[in-house]
Amino acid sequence: MDQKNIRNFSIIAHIDHGKSTLADRILEMTDTVEKREMKDQILDSMDLERERGITIKLNAVQLVYHAKDGQDYLFHLIDTPGHVDFTYEVSRSLAACDGAVLVVDAAQGVQAQTLANVYLALDNDLEILPVLNKIDLPSAQPDVVKQEIEDLIGLDCSDAVEISAKSGLNVDQVLEEIVKRLPAPKGNRNKPLQALVFDSLYDPYRGVIAFVSIKNGTVKKGDRIRFMATGAEYEVTEVGVRTPKEVVEEQLNTGDVGWISAAIKNIEDVRVGDTITKADEPADQPLEGYKEMQPMVYAGLYPVDNARYEDLKDALAKLKLNDASLQFEPETSQALGFGFRCGFLGLLHMDVIEERLEREYNLNLIATSPSVIYKVYRTDGTVEDVDNPAALPPAQNIDHIEEPYVRAEIMVPKEYVGAIMDLCQKKRGEYIDMQVLDDVRMNLVYEMPLSEIIFDFFDKMKSSTKGYASFDYSFSRYKRSNLVKMDILLNGQVIDALSIIVHKDFAYNRGNAMTIKLKELIPKQQFEIPVQAAIGGKVIARTNIKALRKNVLAKCYGGDISRKKKLLEKQKEGKKRMKMVGSVEIPQEAFMAVLSMD
Ligand code: GTP
Repeated sequence: MDQKNIRNFSIIAHIDHGKSTLADRILEMTDTVEKREMKDQILDSMDLERERGITIKLNAVQLVYHAKDGQDYLFHLIDTPGHVDFTYEVSRSLAACDGAVLVVDAAQGVQAQTLANVYLALDNDLEILPVLNKIDLPSAQPDVVKQEIEDLIGLDCSDAVEISAKSGLNVDQVLEEIVKRLPAPKGNRNKPLQALVFDSLYDPYRGVIAFVSIKNGTVKKGDRIRFMATGAEYEVTEVGVRTPKEVVEEQLNTGDVGWISAAIKNIEDVRVGDTITKADEPADQPLEGYKEMQPMVYAGLYPVDNARYEDLKDALAKLKLNDASLQFEPETSQALGFGFRCGFLGLLHMDVIEERLEREYNLNLIATSPSVIYKVYRTDGTVEDVDNPAALPPAQNIDHIEEPYVRAEIMVPKEYVGAIMDLCQKKRGEYIDMQVLDDVRMNLVYEMPLSEIIFDFFDKMKSSTKGYASFDYSFSRYKRSNLVKMDILLNGQVIDALSIIVHKDFAYNRGNAMTIKLKELIPKQQFEIPVQAAIGGKVIARTNIKALRKNVLAKCYGGDISRKKKLLEKQKEGKKRMKMVGSVEIPQEAFMAVLSMD
């Protein structure tokens, strides 16, 4: 296909504004997917995405559109996630595109991630095509929302298409606008190959598959390619595209978005953001890569069965191919044994990684409670980054501690401003600014400790505004705080994996809440277990888990051996995510107790 007839674009939107639904309609209307194969959110290919109804991974698909001008156009559509934790995926997709379709819910208007995603698109110099969705809803106000887009984003909306992605109304106009208003890829197929690696995955049979956007040149089977950052060289075994089924092609040309397979077994050779070129005719320079994402939260991941440590290591390395923002390094815990300290972009990201490790790699894991990175200033003048509460030096060696603060921007209808201010105050937020967005909404700006945001801020914000508030945050600076380490003792023993760092003013309350929660979560055992919270050796809260009286086998009246076996089997299953720590058996939930307090 002629390069001028190619359009590479992403669909961007705030969460739930209808990206995936629009992508479904586009695939349907271009006959990319046969009717009988069509299912909702077809690009959300992971089970996890379909179950949760959210997009986690970006997804690229090639389709052909017969335009009203009589010509055929080749579209590469890249679906992207909307949740703030997956912004990294969005920024990578955008670097592979020339334009973006911005979907805004005509009933909800511009939201925090609408803005965040538009800024990402502008950073990547993309042409933006605004589209108003859900106009079938009685509460839709397309004209008001158009004005809002013009005022807040500065995009001309006079030609913005009003659609219902659900019913398909006017989606054909979106396709026409993509042809008319979005640019064709600019590269040159006669130049040396420059292919941007925007994603990758590990296939047990074919090795690493690199997903690429061809910015210059061409690539085909048999070519010798070089990864410019790592210097690794391979011979291409296959190239192709996704439609969304995998299709093998003769050659990928400038402007194509597809995949390259080269029997790559060494995972470290492939890095998302790297440029692939040809070994015998290399490009002078790599393409501009992506900026490294700094994880926001850290937690320990440990196999329930210590013997599976190597499997976990292998799984993390493979998963990192498909999720470049994941970071990990080995750590040990007295309580949990050998595991990894992992860095995540947020709690949803952490949850998704843990679940993918369990599902895709058949692992059984214990995750410890998430922590941010603290800067610890020691009395001897040295400074140290601490991402694990258990690793905090003894109090007498600490001069002071700094914690990360974020700038949080919350868009909220006027009637909920009071509720949000209340919530921010409770979370140690400091008021910065407030702007009027339009007749009904305000934008509140607070500086808040990241540690308070990552826990339950999002849920609390949603529930105190009936779901009408949206927010975005970015790191602002480190600030000195009055923080202390709180240890948890079970049966008189400190359990390192349960230690947390808390603000001194909250310590007593959190200590109390934590011991009560643990009492609820840790099953009764054969003996009584004292649960204590302590700061610097001083106990500040205490409760007891009473001893178990009944034995499960007591119900079996002695005789029936198969029933006995069944019961024991059942009990074993229930124990799956339990870890024996000293003489006490601790379930996964207990390590996360800190998340469900207050
Ligand atoms: P994420 O992938 O989680 O970021 O969300 P998304 O932006 O892809 O939204 P999705 O397509 O999953 O749509 C969210 C919800 O809005 C779904 O329940 C859709 O059925 C619904 N929806 C999408 N488009 C329309 C529309 O035109 N009208 C109405 N009434 N509902 C719509």
